[in-house]
Amino acid sequence: MSRVKLENLKKHYGNVKAVDGIDLQVENGSFVVLLGPSGCGKTTTLRCIAGLEIPTEGKIYFDERDVTGLSPSERNVGMVFQFYALYPHMSVLENITFPLRACRVPPRKIEEKVKEVVQIFQLKNLLKYKASILPPGDQQRVALARAVVREPNVLLLDEPLSALDEKFREEMRSELGKLQKRIGITTVYVTHDQREAMALGDVIVVMRDGLILQTGSPQELYEHPNSVFVGNFLGTPGMNFVECVYEENSLVLKGTDYRLKLHRPDLIDVLKDYQSREFIMGIRPEYVHIDGEAVNGGLLLEVIAIEPAGRYRLVDFLVGEKIFRVRTDWGLSLVAGQKVWARVREDKVCIFDRDNGMAIVS
Ligand SMILES: Nc1ncnc2c1ncn2[C@@H]1O[C@H](COP(=O)(O)OP(=O)(O)OP(=O)(O)O)[C@@H](O)[C@H]1O
Ligand SMILES: [Mg+2]
Repeated sequence: MSRVKLENLKKHYGNVKAVDGIDLQVENGSFVVLLGPSGCGKTTTLRCIAGLEIPTEGKIYFDERDVTGLSPSERNVGMVFQFYALYPHMSVLENITFPLRACRVPPRKIEEKVKEVVQIFQLKNLLKYKASILPPGDQQRVALARAVVREPNVLLLDEPLSALDEKFREEMRSELGKLQKRIGITTVYVTHDQREAMALGDVIVVMRDGLILQTGSPQELYEHPNSVFVGNFLGTPGMNFVECVYEENSLVLKGTDYRLKLHRPDLIDVLKDYQSREFIMGIRPEYVHIDGEAVNGGLLLEVIAIEPAGRYRLVDFLVGEKIFRVRTDWGLSLVAGQKVWARVREDKVCIFDRDNGMAIVS
């Protein structure tokens, strides 16, 4: 097991800067998720860690060892990709033992290791079946077992659950999380699904355009996004945004006469420099409260649409020209077209620069 360190990692394909200078440390035994939209460089980063791509620039370390020039086998990594390539004509047992036999591990040792992974992945009843006849979830478990049986330094997973249907994906996700904790293997996991990232990651690395935008725990990223992009990308739905100006210790939301009186010295202090300049306020859907009656300092909003979401509803409101999505319980009866009072939780307000989308206070 190793700590993984990337130093100014770049991978360019001609003019395409797939990865354009990232620094990252993955602590020994931790579960790190690379998250970002399609094409942001997640797979390329993973393939560089695996040794399947030679970086254009930069260094990769496993603990203190510089592995940048080493082949995949010299790095001893375990990999599982979306389209897990099991040997379809081989039995589950043969699939799992194959990498060990290829490395000429003595038979007795093979038996020992197989016993261990069979128990971890609960494969005992599947061992004799051909891989190709198993349902996708079982195949994925076999692929994971095969990846960890060699006791790799690092486990690299690229969207390993995306071929599964939703219900099963959730089950596998929770199983995978528990498993990683139990065997304690350093894991780098790639996904574009923020829910998966939030559920699995000790640390989430949000990537965009070949760069790291923000790194932190799921909670840090959720509560303190460093940019409009991260605020929007994380959360179901993402953060609400509206343009604002600052006047007399209040936020005035564009297109409304709503004035959110501020009591937060951190906001007031920073916003002094933004007098009469527009910026963006962000607020999560659960931090807008809906009231039955008029309230002091409230905001009168029109209900546009209501979407049931289990224990909650998502209610769309028109705020100036923007739609705000608000998560609220079923207490109050609401219908489209109705006007209701709302309050923004001042302690949860984030402020972003309008020009570059980066956080000013978050
Ligand atoms: N072998 C290659 N040759 C040329 N361009 C490539 C190659 N591999 C990746 N790219 C480009 O590099 C960029 C990053 O690709 P990458 O596959 O790392 O993205 P990703 O974040 O994994 O996306 P996805 O979520 O769609 O899998 C993309 O623009 C892609 O087209
Ligand atoms: Mg990819």
